[in-house]
Amino acid sequence: MINTQALNPPPRLLMGPGPINADPRVLRAMSAQLIGQYDPAMTGFMNETMARYRQVFKTQQQWTLLIDGTSRAGIEAVLVSAIRPGDKVLIPVFGRFGHLLAEISERAGAEVHTIEVPWGDVFKPEQIEAAIKKVQPKMLAIVQGDTSTTMCQPLSELGAICRAHDVLFYSDATASIVGNEFKTDEWQLDAVSVGLQKCLGGPSGSAPITLSDRFVDWIRKRRRVEAGIRTEAHQDGVEPFIRSNYFDLPMILDYWGEERLNHHTEATTMLYGASECARIVLEEGVDNCIARHKLHGDAMLAGLQALGLKTFGDLSHKMNNVVAVYIPDGVNGDAVRSQMLMDFGIEIGTSFGPLHGKVWRIGTMGYNARKSAVLQTLSCLDACLAANGYRGPKGEAATAALAWYANAG
Ligand SMILES: Cc1ncc(COP(=O)(O)O)c(C=O)c1O
Repeated sequence: MINTQALNPPPRLLMGPGPINADPRVLRAMSAQLIGQYDPAMTGFMNETMARYRQVFKTQQQWTLLIDGTSRAGIEAVLVSAIRPGDKVLIPVFGRFGHLLAEISERAGAEVHTIEVPWGDVFKPEQIEAAIKKVQPKMLAIVQGDTSTTMCQPLSELGAICRAHDVLFYSDATASIVGNEFKTDEWQLDAVSVGLQKCLGGPSGSAPITLSDRFVDWIRKRRRVEAGIRTEAHQDGVEPFIRSNYFDLPMILDYWGEERLNHHTEATTMLYGASECARIVLEEGVDNCIARHKLHGDAMLAGLQALGLKTFGDLSHKMNNVVAVYIPDGVNGDAVRSQMLMDFGIEIGTSFGPLHGKVWRIGTMGYNARKSAVLQTLSCLDACLAANGYRGPKGEAATAALAWYANAG
């Protein structure tokens, strides 16, 4: 028998490392009716979305747009468009998502060079500069906030280093944008990609990106307009063409630019959602939004510490929007997560690879970076720990967070 019941997901509070509950305003925007791809209203929305994301990314760069797909679509579009087979790419890895950049670069044919620090640490600029001097890569690709370890890599000095060595500078800021400081132009980034499902407060499925002129000049050397829409005016670039059609950024730019040259059918509903995410952030102010993530992230941390839970990693580099704590000895981490979900409707996460089953990751991001969500999560975790044999402090978590809020004024 086929199930013909209407879709009715259970109510959940998503307090893991993402996705989080989408802001209701984003969901409302996404229920708006479709319009045609070349309707002036639609191209107007596309231009408006570009303008909004320039503010989100803190950039003046013209080429600020959406890639249709989840965050890794943005990553793949940047990497596959920039990297010719055999190009050297340097990737400093400090968590799972650094490995993802290496994986995607390798599939794009790059000669991948990685440097690593233990999970829980970040790189010093000198370490990255030394590797750049040694490898002489075409591109530096680095994650800003790696949710697998909760660490936030400082980027502010890397742009100048990349310019000095004529290296393209790309960062994946999926998990950190608008929850942590990010300054595309001031930090001299050539390419940035993000996703909606973290601090931007939307669902996954759209990947905003921004590209510098120097990056665009480079990828346009690989331009090839597909047959069927190509005219005599379309000249091939001098460099080998991009191996992906879907993620061919020069063609996507022609679609978002004045020529409006047809590429894919824009995912209109995702564009409505992505645009509304940016609008909500701009209404609050990007810096206020970052400060809100810090406030609620710190309150969550205070509550977890009051429970006697040990934090993972270098706290001075922790992302504002997610924290990892060790699962205490003698406590079944999966049983606690399961009770949180089934009895209280609250989702928290564990991590990947070496941290799988060793830590819980708890997020305070986007729509869920708010006091009530923090206090509910802490109170319920307190209760679940007590119910699962935890011998540490009890009943302290929400009180400590409340005290933190009171002190923060
Ligand atoms: C830093 C980072 N990069 C990339 C991704 C992959 O994103 P998606 O699952 O949206 O493709 C994530 C997802 O958690 C992430 O945290």
